[in-house]
Amino acid sequence: MTALLPPVEAFRAILARPAPFLTLAPMQEITDGAFWSLVHSYGGADIYWTEYFRVHADSTPEKKIVEAITRNTTGRPVVAQMIGNDIAALVRTARVLQTLPVAAVDLNLGCPAPIVYRKCAGGGLLREPARIDAILGALREAIAIPFTVKTRVGFASLEEFDTLLPIFARHSLDALTVHARTVAQLYRLPVHYERIRQAVECMPCPVIANGHVYSAAQAEEVLRVTAARGLMIGRAAIRSPWLFAQIRQHLAGAPVAYPTGRDVWTYIRALWDSQAAFDKPEKVRCERMKKFLNYLGEGVPGQFLHRIRRAQTAAEFHGICAEFLDHDTPMPLEPLVPEPLAVTPS
Ligand SMILES: Cc1cc2nc3c(=O)[nH]c(=O)nc-3n(C[C@H](O)[C@H](O)[C@H](O)COP(=O)(O)O)c2cc1C
Repeated sequence: MTALLPPVEAFRAILARPAPFLTLAPMQEITDGAFWSLVHSYGGADIYWTEYFRVHADSTPEKKIVEAITRNTTGRPVVAQMIGNDIAALVRTARVLQTLPVAAVDLNLGCPAPIVYRKCAGGGLLREPARIDAILGALREAIAIPFTVKTRVGFASLEEFDTLLPIFARHSLDALTVHARTVAQLYRLPVHYERIRQAVECMPCPVIANGHVYSAAQAEEVLRVTAARGLMIGRAAIRSPWLFAQIRQHLAGAPVAYPTGRDVWTYIRALWDSQAAFDKPEKVRCERMKKFLNYLGEGVPGQFLHRIRRAQTAAEFHGICAEFLDHDTPMPLEPLVPEPLAVTPS
């Protein structure tokens, strides 16, 4: 029963077990403690990641993220993610983070936001392998608990991964998450799952596959193609918190249970109750909800998302949900926009 173990042992037990494990991706302004709890109530991930702590010479760990860690109600291990490039500051922050009830400290090497990568942090660091080498060396020495990295497969080209992987491999990481797109690619398809397979073959630690996992069947296919030990799921978990349970059902050979329209409506109300800041004007609360509904709406047929994006009041917002979701038809909640084949041939 890993849930009852302290976070570090629970994390190690999950990584060591033969069955694939499922993690919720870190997502800025989405994956706070309230969202972890909500996802957990639908079956949930085996491991949760925090939003990233911004680390620089004068930073202290953001209170809001620290509170999410100390108040974690999921009973599942939480990994604390950092973003930055200042070695002394990263080491100082990692030392503080490992005194919290976290399972591991993670370094972000993937953020594609220009404001981040131009400062040579997140995905920007992938252009400087020697600097990554120095950062990983210092962090591995400073972190007594598990230390993990979440990376993209290069900054501008896939070939960069051939240089990056040996660097990751020599720092005794406890896990490597690979979001199999380059930074320049942002969120465009295809996802280069064959590069995750390359990481599995090269790394001495478990590799977690990330990028565009959106259904139970496709999750199984990504596990098969990559041979990764686990999956990390981001946007599809916002769209469907049922996805973790569905993947477990599918991998166990059971039929996949889909939520009905009313189940989806209940989920949106739960999001509203846990996320819409009650002390803020209605318009601000609606804007907060749109951060989630922009993803969820991709799985709802018709004009739902178009209408939700224009909602300004709680009455409008809930009225649109009632109009589109007051039914018992099962909803796969997969992205409805036509997309090229997600799994690139290996
Ligand atoms: C809104 C949003 C915020 C994100 N914030 C972070 C973050 O704080 N740290 C990080 O490593 N990745 C972040 N990501 C990237 C995701 O963790 C993940 O790698 C990416 O969405 C691909 O996975 P997916 O296709 O399952 O969504 C973010 C993604 C989104 C959509």
